[in-house]
Amino acid sequence: MTVLNWRARADSVAAGPDPFDIQAVRRHFMFLDCGRIVTNNAASTQPPRELLRLQASLAPEYENVHRGQSAASQLMTARFEQSYDTIAQFLGAPSRACIALYRNTTEAINSVMYSLLTEFRDGDNVVTTLMEHNSNYVPWYAMCREVLPRLGRRVDYRLARFDPRTGELDLEHLASLIDARTKLVCCTGASNFLGTRNPLAAVRALADASGYCQPSGEKRSYLLVDGAQLVPGSFVDVRALDVDYLAFSFHKLLAPFGVGVLYAKEHLLDASLPFLYGGDMIAEGRVFPWQVEYNALPWKYAAGTPNILGAIVSAQAVRILVDLALTPGRPVYFGTAKPLPRAAVRSAMERISSWNQQLTSRALDGLEAIGGITIYGPRDPARRTSLVAFNLAARDPVSVAEALNRAGVESRAGCHCATLAHHALGLNPPASCRLSFYLYNTPDDVDQAVAAVAAVTRRTHFRLLPAEYPRSRLRPR
Ligand SMILES: Cc1ncc(COP(=O)(O)O)c(C=O)c1O
Repeated sequence: MTVLNWRARADSVAAGPDPFDIQAVRRHFMFLDCGRIVTNNAASTQPPRELLRLQASLAPEYENVHRGQSAASQLMTARFEQSYDTIAQFLGAPSRACIALYRNTTEAINSVMYSLLTEFRDGDNVVTTLMEHNSNYVPWYAMCREVLPRLGRRVDYRLARFDPRTGELDLEHLASLIDARTKLVCCTGASNFLGTRNPLAAVRALADASGYCQPSGEKRSYLLVDGAQLVPGSFVDVRALDVDYLAFSFHKLLAPFGVGVLYAKEHLLDASLPFLYGGDMIAEGRVFPWQVEYNALPWKYAAGTPNILGAIVSAQAVRILVDLALTPGRPVYFGTAKPLPRAAVRSAMERISSWNQQLTSRALDGLEAIGGITIYGPRDPARRTSLVAFNLAARDPVSVAEALNRAGVESRAGCHCATLAHHALGLNPPASCRLSFYLYNTPDDVDQAVAAVAAVTRRTHFRLLPAEYPRSRLRPR
C-alpha cells in the first residue's frame, strides 16, 4: 500500500475478523530485527514501521497549521484537524470540540488542574486514590497544599484505599470520602502497578451522588479518569462512561513520543479558562487593549504552534491499531481520513484486550509457580490490564530487572511512579519489577520472561537486598 492515501478508500471493514494473526501483526514492527523481547509496554509501546515512514512522508508538504495561505499549509491544516476527528471517533466523543492535545497524560491532567483552579471554593475537596500514578496525585497535592493556600483558599485532597490483598479499589472507603464539597473525583482507569481495572461505572455513580453544586448548575462531582493504562488495550467509550475528563498518552498506543490527549465534555471546555494563553487560541482579530476573545473549540486549547506531525502520526496510530487487530495484512483505515465506525473500534479493541488477557493469564500462571515471588494486584486476568508487577523474596527489584535484561527480557523496576501504592503495601524500598505485554507479544515472549525470572531466583550469587536501600538506585519514574 502507499504509505499515505488521504482519500477515503472504498473498501469496507472486514466483514468478520479472522483469528488474531500475531505473525502478521509482528511483521509491522522493527524491534524484532534485533531480537528484542519487548515486555516493558506499560512504559511505552513500539511504533510500527508505517508510522515512522508516515512521519517522513509528510516532509514535502511540511508547513505550519492555521498560519498560511499556501497549498501546503492548507493541506497540513486539514490533516491536523482530521487527526482531532479521528481521536474523537476512537473515544466515541461527540466531536473534535471535546479534544485537547498536550505532550502527554501528565500535561493533560495538569491542564485540568489549572483550568479548574479558579473554580475551587474554600472548603472544597478533591478525591483521588492511593493507586494513582503520581501524574494524577501530585497535581492535586500541589494545588491543595501549595497553589490554593497562596490564594487564601483551603481545599483538601482525600485518598481512597485499595485492598492490599486483591489490589481492588475500596469502593466503601471511596464513598465515605466523597461528600457535597467534592468538586472532582480523580481515578485511574487501570493501575500501572497493580494492573487493576477500576469499576468506573461505580465510581461515576458515587461522584453523581455527591450533590456538589458545579458552576454549570450540575449537582454532582466531576469525574476525571486517567486512561494512560486503560485506553491502549480496552474499548473505551467516553459517552458510555460519562466521564467529564479522560487523559491518555499516545506513546503507550503505538505512536512515537510527544502527544497526549485530554477528552473533556464540550460544555466544560467551553466554560473553563484556557490552560495556556497566546497565539491561535484567540478568535481571529478579536484581541484589543481592553479585551481578548478566545477561539472556538478545540483551538481555544491549542495555544502556540502545536506538535503538528505528532498529532497527525498519533491519530494514524489509532487507525493502524484498528487495522492490526482486524486485518493486519490489509490496511483499511490507516493512511485515510475515513470515519472510524464504533463497531470497528469496539471489535479491534476487544480483540487486543482478549489477546493481552491471554498473555497476562499465561504470565500469572508461570510466575505464580516461582518460589518466593509476590505478585501484586488481582489474580483474575480479566480484572487487570496486561502487566504483572512482582517482587522476589530478598531480591532487589532493580537487580532483578538488570538480570532479566542480561537474559534479553526487558522489564522495569522501581516504583513506576505509583509511589503511594508501593508505600501503602509497606514495600521498602518502594519498588517492584514489572513485565508488561502488548498486542505484538507472543506466548513465547511470556514463557521466556517467566523462565528468566525463575532463573534469577536460582542464582546463588545474586545480590541480596541491602539493609539500607540506596536512594540513587530508585529510578525517578
Ligand atoms: C496510569 C498512568 N498515568 C499517567 C502516566 C503518565 O504518562 P506520561 O508519562 O505519558 O505523562 C502513566 C505513565 O506510565 C501511567 O501509567
